[in-house]
Amino acid sequence: HPSIPLPVDLFGAWKNSGGIDLAERTILAETAAAIAASPPPARGRGPGGGPTLTTSEPAVEAGGPPPAPSRTREGVASAIDRASAAFPGWAATPLATRAAILERLADLLEENRIELMALAVKEAFKTIPDALGEVREAADFCRYYALQARTGLAPITLPGPTGERNELRMEGRGVWATIAPWNFPLAIFLGQTAAALVAGNAVVAKPAPQTPEIARAAVRLAHQAGVPEDALVLVTGGPEVGAALTSDHRIAGVAFTGSTPTAKKIAAALLEGNDRPLVPLIAETGGINAMIVDSTALPEQVVADVLTSAFRSAGQRCSALRLLLLQEEIAEGVIEMLRGAMELLILGDPADPRTDIGPVIDQAAYDKLMAYRDSAKAQWIKTVPVPATGLFVPPTMIRIDRPEDLTREWFGPILHVATWKAGTLAETVARVNAKGFGLTMGLHSRIARSAELVEAEARVGNLYINRSMIGAVVGSQPFGGEGLSGTGPKAGGPHYLHRFCAERAVSVDT
Ligand code: SER
Repeated sequence: HPSIPLPVDLFGAWKNSGGIDLAERTILAETAAAIAASPPPARGRGPGGGPTLTTSEPAVEAGGPPPAPSRTREGVASAIDRASAAFPGWAATPLATRAAILERLADLLEENRIELMALAVKEAFKTIPDALGEVREAADFCRYYALQARTGLAPITLPGPTGERNELRMEGRGVWATIAPWNFPLAIFLGQTAAALVAGNAVVAKPAPQTPEIARAAVRLAHQAGVPEDALVLVTGGPEVGAALTSDHRIAGVAFTGSTPTAKKIAAALLEGNDRPLVPLIAETGGINAMIVDSTALPEQVVADVLTSAFRSAGQRCSALRLLLLQEEIAEGVIEMLRGAMELLILGDPADPRTDIGPVIDQAAYDKLMAYRDSAKAQWIKTVPVPATGLFVPPTMIRIDRPEDLTREWFGPILHVATWKAGTLAETVARVNAKGFGLTMGLHSRIARSAELVEAEARVGNLYINRSMIGAVVGSQPFGGEGLSGTGPKAGGPHYLHRFCAERAVSVDT
């Protein structure tokens, strides 16, 4: 296979999937102090489990109107006005300058990592290692897209007959809407936005309603790095703001990460209106992600990788393991070991560096997950005690008879377990594929032919063999799915930026 060389310093996020070293403990201590010293969470609901308060976020940053429907539309329209006016100047800014601004932004993210980590803990209840991972991944996206822009978006000269000059140019399309989720409120928010910007687009960026403050900090740093104020405009609020944004005919493309139903609504909105231009949608959505384990797998490694994949970040990753498929012969032994390992997980305040699992994002998520857990009580294999108060969902294993019994994504620390019979590996993969999602899949096996079979048959964007299934590394594991899981191209991959560009071929008779 051809390999793509990358500078080593792009791999800041490498440790996202691993532990924390000694030097980083100092950062953690500083972070905890910063969190303790800063004001309470913007939304007034802390890890102690206070009620979820709604705030009257302005629809538009910098003195925008409150989010009454007509005001929301006006606020969003004025954000698009500003970005539209800024677009020509930004598009004309040399590619090398745009790339250098992204690199400056990566530096600023690292310099301000304590504040950003504190915001990730306070707004999204990220644990300290996850909060650190957010900053590293955001910085990696910026540096990686700067590198890709320099090498991949420069004009290409193409062959032609004598006397003809042919050139292919990659240019910004206009004003992109970037719509981000709360579970990666810095990394995905900024990854989508940085890609659109470096490709020469202006951006109106909308964070999830749960996490506006960290987005505000990221936009402030982007402006400080050199992105013109109006080339990146923040709008905050709920689905009504997203709807106003995607229904505006001036939007030249949408990069969205979130649920499959919302992606479909955006796709439908982008097709409305006879005179609306056809514009791209990059959607990254959910998955019913399975890990298949055969009888040759190393049980200790399986247990460690299942714990990380299913329960880290309280299972609130689109990549997270939802369905563990154990070969019958080893199932009871692995389940027994998992039971024991789950007992050691520490649930608690996310600002405490010892915590493995913090609260889930909000009351609505908590209620939905707990209602489902209770309905499946008869099939529980193991649940873990939780702190007395707070939005803590206990990590839970639920036994099901067949892979088909799990029909939707439960976005939390709930793992389903089923078994499969020796000799039915291909059929097992086909049954997972048949769910229609295609984000991540895992395999634990020491049989080379089994690995080859799964590599050939799995219909997923990210396949992980003999390792955990989360924590895709920018530049190493381009991330994103197919089918119900998304449109591609993959974030953190070499083809991502092109979708943000208009490709223009110019032929000159010389
Ligand atoms: N990129 C994240 C991961 O790989 C999920 O969004 O875990």
